[in-house]
Amino acid sequence: MAQVIASRRGPVTGTAKAKPRRPFLLDLYSTAVGKKYVMAITGIAMMGFVLFHMIGNLKMFLGASDLNHYAHFLEKLLYPLAPEKTVLWILRAGLIGMLILHLHAAYSLTVMNRTARPVKYQSARDYQIANFASRTMRWSGVIVLAFIVWHLLDLTFGVVNSQTNAFYMEGDERLKDVYNAVIYSFERPVVAVFYIVANVLLGIHLFHGAWSIFQSLGWNNPRFNKWRNAFATGFAAIVVIGNVTFPVAVMAGILEKATY
Ligand code: HEM
Repeated sequence: MAQVIASRRGPVTGTAKAKPRRPFLLDLYSTAVGKKYVMAITGIAMMGFVLFHMIGNLKMFLGASDLNHYAHFLEKLLYPLAPEKTVLWILRAGLIGMLILHLHAAYSLTVMNRTARPVKYQSARDYQIANFASRTMRWSGVIVLAFIVWHLLDLTFGVVNSQTNAFYMEGDERLKDVYNAVIYSFERPVVAVFYIVANVLLGIHLFHGAWSIFQSLGWNNPRFNKWRNAFATGFAAIVVIGNVTFPVAVMAGILEKATY
């Protein structure tokens, strides 16, 4: 009998094919935990950018020359070791990569959650736990993204307002006048108000993001909740207050156009 079964089964050795394995990082990214790690790490990198961008922009209050020299210093990072703007473009590429990964992880986590629970919650959700900031992450993120697109068209490329495409001469060098570009931009009350609203939404997004980082990375002992809360509130408040001072100072006439 044993012989009959063995002959029906056929050979058992050397026939099993190993599934081709994906690289470890792709394998990890296919899980919810991996996507949360990506959200957290890219979030930290972008938090670093918004904080240093705000601190750099505070040079507005020191005057046109300070802000413009700082902007040109960024363009000339590591020059002449590397050609002008090379390091700046490497940093920009890193930032764009972080943004794409952050958006992709957010989108695919949402799809994963919907697939896991195709039927909507029948009763009201516990909104004490899912607080205001966490419930608004998606749309605050989308509005901040729209703001970034506008902001780049306005101040980096100068295409939505010809005046923000300003230049000045230093010797025989024609340099971008970043200081006056910001003043020209915020002189339009609709734009100034849009900046303020977008920055408040950025603050809400940052607050929940800064709080969630610890959860996503698994450092979520309830003993540290007080510190997490203080860090998230402090970080979001510093960025928002700093950023809002610029449109407010221009509208109040504290920051004025520079003449050369
Ligand atoms: C009221 C606050 C802000 C002011 C006054 C401001 C000012 C500026 C200026 C003047 C530039 C152009 C710099 C140059 O061409 O040399 C710029 C670029 C940029 N800003 Fe802002 N910004 C503000 C808020 C923000 C926020 C909240 C974000 C992101 C959420 C952001 C993201 C960017 C990015 C990604 C660039 C392009 C950087 C580059 O490619 O060099 N900015 N900003």
